[in-house]
Amino acid sequence: MVEWGAESQIGPRVRGTELRMEIRDSVAIVTGSSRGIGRAIAAMLAGAGASVVINARDKSEALLKVADILGPPGRVLVAPGDVGDFDVCRGIVRSAQDRFGPVDILVNNAGTFGLKRFAEMEPKDWESMFRVHVFGSFNMSRHVLPDMIRRKRGVIVNIASFVAVRPPGPGRVHYAAAKSALLGLTRALGLELAGTGVRVVGVAPGLTDTEIVRKGLPNLPERVARVPVGRMARPEEIAHAVRFVIENEFTTAETLFISGGE
Ligand SMILES: NC(=O)c1ccc[n+]([C@@H]2O[C@H](COP(=O)([O-])OP(=O)(O)OC[C@H]3O[C@@H](n4cnc5c(N)ncnc54)[C@H](OP(=O)(O)O)[C@@H]3O)[C@@H](O)[C@H]2O)c1
Repeated sequence: MVEWGAESQIGPRVRGTELRMEIRDSVAIVTGSSRGIGRAIAAMLAGAGASVVINARDKSEALLKVADILGPPGRVLVAPGDVGDFDVCRGIVRSAQDRFGPVDILVNNAGTFGLKRFAEMEPKDWESMFRVHVFGSFNMSRHVLPDMIRRKRGVIVNIASFVAVRPPGPGRVHYAAAKSALLGLTRALGLELAGTGVRVVGVAPGLTDTEIVRKGLPNLPERVARVPVGRMARPEEIAHAVRFVIENEFTTAETLFISGGE
């Protein structure tokens, strides 16, 4: 039996019948980490001892500020690029591998939001929502997976949303459909890889206090009042759920909902 907390090992540690993936000394990529939930996930991973690759579409001031906050430059890499582009994602993954070595943890978090009635929607509205959420997850996962399968080690976390299964409200058909696709992707890919040492898990947040919500929702106070616990989640609470699904070796092909009871 190996005890928890032995500093020198990477990989599952056995304690009784429990297995835990060690974050310390692993290499993690978090897409869409210039603010909000992604920034909190990147901070959680850096705090737990991972080398972290942070990303957003552009090398913005916000992204560079996150790099400063996360700690020693030797443990953080800024890798901007649109996750909707397959070749750009190959570049992001390669730069992570070149700097830190093989990728152990990928968090597909990058996302956008928008309200538009279905009857007014253009193909470009539909496409852009699927491009970032669904193609983004495919593109990044496709590039990290060969190495993960070869090494028999890795976890991919897809950030879905509670609106994939709960009433999303009007104007969100494209968003809800894209997030539902992530539940299916997580389930099917997780099962395809089950037993290989590579896990695919989802975290589906409820209403969380970030820019996407503050800028995107016109009736925020009424919306918050409908959350049974009476408030939005803090991004750090979502990051805590992400930590759980990364560390717990018995989670795969499933999505953890964290929505304040909604
Ligand atoms: N907040 C909520 O209530 C809530 C609830 C359920 C699920 N979620 C999901 O949680 C994730 C994070 O949301 P958030 O609330 O933290 O949103 P946010 O504050 O708007 O952050 C979104 C992040 O994604 C980046 N991004 C957007 N498009 C990108 C692209 N094509 N390529 C790379 N990066 C991109 C943004 O940076 P740039 O704009 O600089 O590119 C930013 O860093 C999203 O997938 C969202 O759908 C949020």
